[in-house]
Amino acid sequence: MKLFQPLTIRSMTLPNRLVVPAMVTRLSGEDGFVNNDIRDRYMRFAKGGAGLVVLEAMAVHGSRSGPLLRLSGDEFMAGLRDLCAGMHDIGPGRVVPQIIHFLKIARSGWRQKVEDLSIAEIHAIPHAYAAAAERSVRCGFDGVELHMAHAYTLSSFLSRLNRRRDDYGGTLERRLRLPVEVVVAVRAAVGDQYPIGVRFDGEECIKGGYTVAEAQLIAYRLVRAGVDYVSISAGGKFEDAVPRAGEPLYPYTGYSGDRCMPGKSWPDGANRYLPAGIKSFLRKQGVAAPVIATGKINTPELAEEILGAGDADLIGMARPLLADPDWPRKVQAGRFDKVIRCCYANVCKARDERFQTVACFLWPKGSKQAPDSEDIVPPQWDRQLAASTQQGRVSLKWSAATDNEGVYGYDIWRAVGGEKFERIDAIPVPVTTYHDTATIKGLAYRYFVQAYDLAGNRSERSFVVEARVES
Ligand SMILES: Cc1cc2nc3c(=O)[nH]c(=O)nc-3n(C[C@H](O)[C@H](O)[C@H](O)COP(=O)(O)O)c2cc1C
Repeated sequence: MKLFQPLTIRSMTLPNRLVVPAMVTRLSGEDGFVNNDIRDRYMRFAKGGAGLVVLEAMAVHGSRSGPLLRLSGDEFMAGLRDLCAGMHDIGPGRVVPQIIHFLKIARSGWRQKVEDLSIAEIHAIPHAYAAAAERSVRCGFDGVELHMAHAYTLSSFLSRLNRRRDDYGGTLERRLRLPVEVVVAVRAAVGDQYPIGVRFDGEECIKGGYTVAEAQLIAYRLVRAGVDYVSISAGGKFEDAVPRAGEPLYPYTGYSGDRCMPGKSWPDGANRYLPAGIKSFLRKQGVAAPVIATGKINTPELAEEILGAGDADLIGMARPLLADPDWPRKVQAGRFDKVIRCCYANVCKARDERFQTVACFLWPKGSKQAPDSEDIVPPQWDRQLAASTQQGRVSLKWSAATDNEGVYGYDIWRAVGGEKFERIDAIPVPVTTYHDTATIKGLAYRYFVQAYDLAGNRSERSFVVEARVES
């Protein structure tokens, strides 16, 4: 499989093409230091076998924030150095921190904009990034990723809604000025061989925002300035965030937030046209920098198809690897059937918004980490499944399965008309019912349910039931 072929980026060789993109955990305190929970989370990702683990966004400056890691001073290095060494020991992958600069926001709804920054404040930003990147080298990280996506400072400079009237706004070249200064300063701080990645939006997904047409040029300019890989995200902006009284704006509540973390209603691979457009432009310009695609990519078939089509060089999976950090090693062993599969309920996102520990909806209630089990005994059950239709929806009910370690959840599979079965959702125990509201009259729907345990062992399938919606 192409997914398990290595890839070299300057001094860093990734053993495979799977990336854990940065995902804030809210496990750190506001002090910004690595603690045991953070350590457990990332050791688990490393052990799962991803080729590259990007540690969650950590601040390059001292501004106050909610719970967030920091790389803004030498005092933060010891914990990060230990974590990095532990991850190198336990897994085959490489490790880079994502480093971020953000502007101020207040509970009143006020937020600082790029137009509010003085030239002196702007000039301090490349220095802060360079100092944090140099700490990244000293911590033993294999590279560093610069956060230029979503609602944060560098992304807001790149934005078409950057309204500065000086050399840092207006034309695309001027919007790129600060991001390019950051790249140049970071390169000077880390030397020629150290990999520098950038994460930025392939599309802002807001009214008046840039699209892939400008993202291609942004990627080209950043690579020419010294960047070694580009990781393509989407949206996640303040401009369309939904205000909530007494709460600071959360940039993932509007349409652009949906585009950043596409939920259940979005098709698989929803954003793949962004890395595809950027990569094809870069290659036509003779630029070989690897491109990371992310956004509802969740099966080996889809990942392989994206790599095979040349739409990306690396596959990012955030929520799927939160649901099951062992996805890489299970798939490499040919056991995708043992993967606990994300159902895109976006409970992780909702928890992030509330500054609560980011956990997966599918994990056992109250867990801070994904379960870790090597058990091989699958759940047992009588396979009974009943379907009824009422008020235009199909309701399923099944009898509970049993397992030596405990049943963990159920996958729901559906076939529409004569089509093949697709997994449409997952339900954690103890629930044994499911309501399908995405149904229309005139088609027959077939369903089966399958139980899984903590290790992802699947039970036999339930009997298949058929339902028709009448009104
Ligand atoms: C809880 C949570 C926290 C996130 N934190 C970050 C972050 O710190 N930096 C970043 O670039 N993206 C962040 N993201 C976005 C993800 O990296 C990823 O782009 C997004 O979830 C879509 O990928 P997926 O469909 O594989 O989950 C976060 C996503 C989630 C769900």
